[in-house]
Amino acid sequence: MKHLLSVTDIQQDIFNILQLAEQLKKDPWGHQILDKKVLAMIFEKASTRTRISFEVAMFQLGGHALFLSKSDLQLGRGELIEDTSRVMSRYVDGVMIRAVEHSDVVNFAQHSDVPVINGLTNLEHPCQALTDIFTIFEKKKTYRVHLTFVGDGNNVCNSLLLASSLVGMDMTVVCPERYEPDVEIINKAKSFALKSGSQIEVTNNISEGIKDADVVYTDVWVSMGEENETDKRLKVLNDYQVNSEILNLANPDAIVMHCLPAIRGQEITEDVISCDQSAIWDQAENRLHVQKAILYTLLGKF
Ligand code: CP
Ligand code: NVA
Repeated sequence: MKHLLSVTDIQQDIFNILQLAEQLKKDPWGHQILDKKVLAMIFEKASTRTRISFEVAMFQLGGHALFLSKSDLQLGRGELIEDTSRVMSRYVDGVMIRAVEHSDVVNFAQHSDVPVINGLTNLEHPCQALTDIFTIFEKKKTYRVHLTFVGDGNNVCNSLLLASSLVGMDMTVVCPERYEPDVEIINKAKSFALKSGSQIEVTNNISEGIKDADVVYTDVWVSMGEENETDKRLKVLNDYQVNSEILNLANPDAIVMHCLPAIRGQEITEDVISCDQSAIWDQAENRLHVQKAILYTLLGKF
């Protein structure tokens, strides 16, 4: 049995998942490959895309999804993660969790007899990163491109480092000092990059980092759970906004990506979100198609 807690968990399957997603996208209702399978979805934090795309994915594949907010579960009243996990394994075929602490998802998976999927933690957002790589290939027809992530080296950035280095994509992270991605993840990505022939860089210099970028990616400056640091973050990240001036420093055919939700006027400007180079809405749609491929890979064969 396989879990998807980190992008590293599917390093052997990544190209199969991306190819399967392409097939599934062509015929959204034509593959009832999870007939009678049930996915439980536990949310400790808010979600629009992750919740809806997983729920619709299960329905289109012939299965069913259960939305479970932590506050409605006994988990929210202190029932142990271990006990929740053991019990859920008796009812459902897979569990997707969006949690505050990555270690809680790891703990849940350790006690689960069914596959567990990370729907975002403080450390990673693997489903998002796989979607992003898929979207880049869809737009650029190759993985051999240069992706520049601008802003906070957060969960999305961490998973993108792992996914891009696995498929042979160059990635530069442009962020202020002390907002770098996780050190262990950078090292892991560099080791993947050695094998795949790509380059991983981290810099504080935005014009340096964005030069030659084929993809310009950003995410919020204040992630869920970091609201008490808002003032400090807005100040420190102020020079790392993706606006038209910055976008002009990238390659002329660069695409713009954002995992959403976006805060216009902070990490990105309205004109960039809605410009012709923006791939943001296709990227959001692709969560549905890529997650179907993830679900089939984990639940279909289990
Ligand atoms: N990108 C993303 O995961 O969006 P949600 O928080 O709306 O699920
Ligand atoms: N970094 C953001 C991503 C939201 C999808 C957060 O964790 O809130």
